Amino acid sequence: MKRLAGKTALITGAARGIGAAFAKAYVAQGARVAIADINIEGARARADALGAGAIAVGMDITRQDSIDAGVQATVDAFGGIDILINNAAVFTAAPIAEITREDFNTVFEINVAGTLFTLQAVARHMIARGKGGKIINMASQAGRRGEPLVAVYCASKAAVISLTQSAGLDLIRHGINVNAISPGVVDGEHWDGVDALFARYEHKPLGQKKKEVGAAVPYGRMGRAEDLTGMAVFLATEEADYIVAQTYNVDGGQWMS
Ligand SMILES: NC(=O)c1ccc[n+]([C@@H]2O[C@H](COP(=O)([O-])OP(=O)(O)OC[C@H]3O[C@@H](n4cnc5c(N)ncnc54)[C@H](O)[C@@H]3O)[C@@H](O)[C@H]2O)c1
Repeated sequence: MKRLAGKTALITGAARGIGAAFAKAYVAQGARVAIADINIEGARARADALGAGAIAVGMDITRQDSIDAGVQATVDAFGGIDILINNAAVFTAAPIAEITREDFNTVFEINVAGTLFTLQAVARHMIARGKGGKIINMASQAGRRGEPLVAVYCASKAAVISLTQSAGLDLIRHGINVNAISPGVVDGEHWDGVDALFARYEHKPLGQKKKEVGAAVPYGRMGRAEDLTGMAVFLATEEADYIVAQTYNVDGGQWMS
């Protein structure tokens, strides 16, 4: 029996990386998935690769009209949304003395406001539909504590953990479970960019930071997107009905809470 048979999901930022792995795992478990991304070409390529179970939806989570249109397109295609994975985000790094207001605004518009208002749009649909639902936000170990070069991203992910708590407590009366997954360091195109930023600020050769963070993981290596799919499937099933407002570390033992 497929664990998400008959379910429909909207996954933001699913054109690549962790979101793409979630989309693949969800389709494999019987769900129909809307791959929503600002990168519509990438979203189309992912949807095509997954076949009839997936559609591509262009969505920029910094624009309310785009969020609303993406949610409506998913409802029109599937008849409703049972699961939202709020996954789209961006990373930035700079010493405190070099952070710009522009960078701060960009990161908070996407990682915090984008997460909240996508959650709100899907929650409104779920409340009106009256069938409950599952909402999974992507947090980060970066949201558990600060880092000298990563103040803005860390603060944005701390906000995601806090929003998960507030939304989880508010929406459970509608049968909507809101929880979050907190990865550690997950290799992929995202971390290629992170590695390049650390190379610049810590004067390391490219690839060095990845080696260091991988060696520091208690499990013994960086994460892979596929390491996170088990939790993403579990939190979307009825087995997780009694789990409310939590953030789960899936990070090879990096953070304990
Ligand atoms: N990779 C890691 O090490 C790691 C660690 C902790 C948390 N996370 C979190 O996991 C999630 C996925 O990370 P990833 O590594 O797959 O990232 P990624 O950069 O590979 O993918 C992010 C996706 O979001 C999309 N996106 C960016 N801005 C958008 C916008 N305004 N509207 C819609 N889509 C937009 C991008 O086009 C991209 O496809 C993120 O929330 C990230 O913060 C990642």
